Amino acid sequence: MVEKTKELISVDNVSLDYGGKDGNGPAIKDVSLDIYPGEFVCVMGPSGCGKSTLLKILAGFIKPTGGTASLDGNKINGIDAQRGVVFQNSTLYEWYSVKKNVGFGLSMRHVAKATIAEEVEKYLAEVKLDDWGDKKVFELSGGMKQRAAIASALINKPEILLMDEPFGALDALTKNQMQNLIRRIWAKSHNTIFFITHDVDEALLLGSRVVVMSKHPGRIIADFPAPFTTDILRDNDDDIRYSKDFLAKRKKILEMISQDILE
Ligand SMILES: Nc1ncnc2c1ncn2[C@@H]1O[C@H](COP(=O)(O)OP(=O)(O)O)[C@@H](O)[C@H]1O
Ligand SMILES: [Mg+2]
Repeated sequence: MVEKTKELISVDNVSLDYGGKDGNGPAIKDVSLDIYPGEFVCVMGPSGCGKSTLLKILAGFIKPTGGTASLDGNKINGIDAQRGVVFQNSTLYEWYSVKKNVGFGLSMRHVAKATIAEEVEKYLAEVKLDDWGDKKVFELSGGMKQRAAIASALINKPEILLMDEPFGALDALTKNQMQNLIRRIWAKSHNTIFFITHDVDEALLLGSRVVVMSKHPGRIIADFPAPFTTDILRDNDDDIRYSKDFLAKRKKILEMISQDILE
């Protein structure tokens, strides 16, 4: 499914030191990572290891203090709709309708009203919010807000979707539904997704590739392809999570992280 062509994102020896007086040193250190078009990269690591820091560098919110991060060969410099971001807590405007929120990016770019309406319909359908467009965001459940946030990002047709623990605040059942939704969107659209989680199951259930980060200061300690998301799409159920293979991979990752934490 994933074509190994030219890398879309190239992270080259990136470090970031917030430079605080706490003497904590860099949040991430010498991180190198190439992401290819169509990959679903799940980055997993313990809390505080620098996952969000890495995502913020890719989003262009902060600049690395060492190394470079580029997209399509161009150094990432500031924010851009080319890189859509979805956080754990939605950054929607609560008092606006879902439609207005989802169409916001396009209206900022002065796209014609009729086109915006069409695109909004399309992306609301994509995230199964067809009947909710006229509701205000505060009327939605947590899962629905995250679906609206995903539609708001996708409508700008970003080259990469950056997701920072987007389902972290949801209950188990809703989380499972959201995982199925994002997996199907990925399979259908061939989007490139960079997805952060501290949940080993989530990383293995979603990623076509799983990257494991060490404890603070964050470094990459493992990076491997994961077959499960494609299996789940093929089988149309996620029973593979109980398979020997899945449980063995899960155990290995958890052992790797706990060993790293003890060192
Ligand atoms: N704006 C900031 N200023 C100073 N230190 C920060 C800032 N943001 C994060 N940190 C520190 O950087 C480290 C990594 O944080 P973060 O990237 O949020 O980790 P994660 O997302 O993996 O939990 C932590 O030690 C955190 O306290
Ligand atoms: Mg974080």
